[in-house]
Amino acid sequence: MVHSFQITNIIPKSEFMITAILKEAGNDNRVAILPGEAAILKNMGLEVVVEIHAGEKSFASDDAYREAGAIVTDRNDAISKASLLLSVNPIPENDIDLCHEGQVICSILNPSENRSWIDKAKLKGLTVLALDIIPRTTRAQSMDILSSMATVAGYKAVLEAASLLPRFFPMFMSAAGTIKPSRVLVLGAGVAGLQALAIARKLGAVVEVFDVRSAVKEEVKSLGGKFVEVEGAREDAAAGGYAVEQSEDFRKRQQELIQNRAIASDVIIATAQIPGKRAPVLINRETIDAMKPGSVIIDLAASSGGNCELTQNGKSIVVNGVTIIGKSNYPSEMPADASKMFGSNIINLLKIMVDKNGNLNLDMNDEIINGTTAVHAGQYISQRVKQMLNIK
Ligand code: NAI
Repeated sequence: MVHSFQITNIIPKSEFMITAILKEAGNDNRVAILPGEAAILKNMGLEVVVEIHAGEKSFASDDAYREAGAIVTDRNDAISKASLLLSVNPIPENDIDLCHEGQVICSILNPSENRSWIDKAKLKGLTVLALDIIPRTTRAQSMDILSSMATVAGYKAVLEAASLLPRFFPMFMSAAGTIKPSRVLVLGAGVAGLQALAIARKLGAVVEVFDVRSAVKEEVKSLGGKFVEVEGAREDAAAGGYAVEQSEDFRKRQQELIQNRAIASDVIIATAQIPGKRAPVLINRETIDAMKPGSVIIDLAASSGGNCELTQNGKSIVVNGVTIIGKSNYPSEMPADASKMFGSNIINLLKIMVDKNGNLNLDMNDEIINGTTAVHAGQYISQRVKQMLNIK
């Protein structure tokens, strides 16, 4: 439910001129805005400052930002001058001390794991927009950063599996005889799963896909995959395109079928998730023991516990000849296009927040702004964030 707010917070252009693009503080190779998108911000009436070397790891030089009309400066200067701070990951908690009341921060937030960060920002009087909780609605599709990043992850997952697999993906007919195509099993047919299916098919593999949402069956078929179905899945139309938890009986039947299909597969791309919950465990030790040596599992759900019982987040392991990859940041491995998509999504969000006069208009009655704002003016706003943080 969207709460009705009395005040529409219009921040005049004179105070909302400067947008800062910050360099990622950790190992991430992405940048929130590339020079092309910085030029779009300029056209929207915003002044743009960029932290020195912010785009370096995404192959965007400081000069390219300057050519786009941005000012390149050091981090402290960028943070202190800007009204809007843009980054991919949340700025380090210590940097909140450099911020000032009324500033707007816009990044992925991962609210359930950043409670103290959010509380500190709230206390400081910052407005925090969490790009990872943008509602998954048709209107917000062009702003959906998680979908963009899942698209990159689904693509990279298949390429990594293909390069690790000791076999060809496509059928091969040569003078040495005919080689059968590889078999790929995709678990979860959301954004990452459907992308993985499309790429694996392009590389010539035979692809089976499993999901608890029957709505994706036709999409799977249209991309050339075979939909593997377990009868009796619990579905919830109110879950907004996301899956819900399943009954014990369903889980048992699902386990048997997945084991059966996993044994026949060369590659598993695991993408099943239920937002805000631990990822469902779909591949157990017994299944791995029964799989062909040389098989590869790419577990995209690693950061939320993994779909495979043995996955280790951020690590690659080999168990009985089966390689299990638990990388949790594939988008960082393809930083140029991942950053391009990230920046386009931010711009589409800013288009509903910045009016034609260049003023920031945080209309809390707008379901996208309301649903994305973690805190504003010392209050928690988004219902989803409140749920994630157990706030009544
Ligand atoms: P999504 O929510 O669009 O898709 C998840 C799919 O899993 C849904 O279709 C859902 O119905 C299905 N599902 C849920 N429970 C299931 C079950 N028990 N059995 C079968 N299917 C089930 O999610 P999206 O955006 O495709 O992301 C997928 C995963 O990839 C997430 O865990 C996300 O965090 C992760 N991800 C990983 C990245 C990486 O670099 N490793 C980068 C981006 C996303």
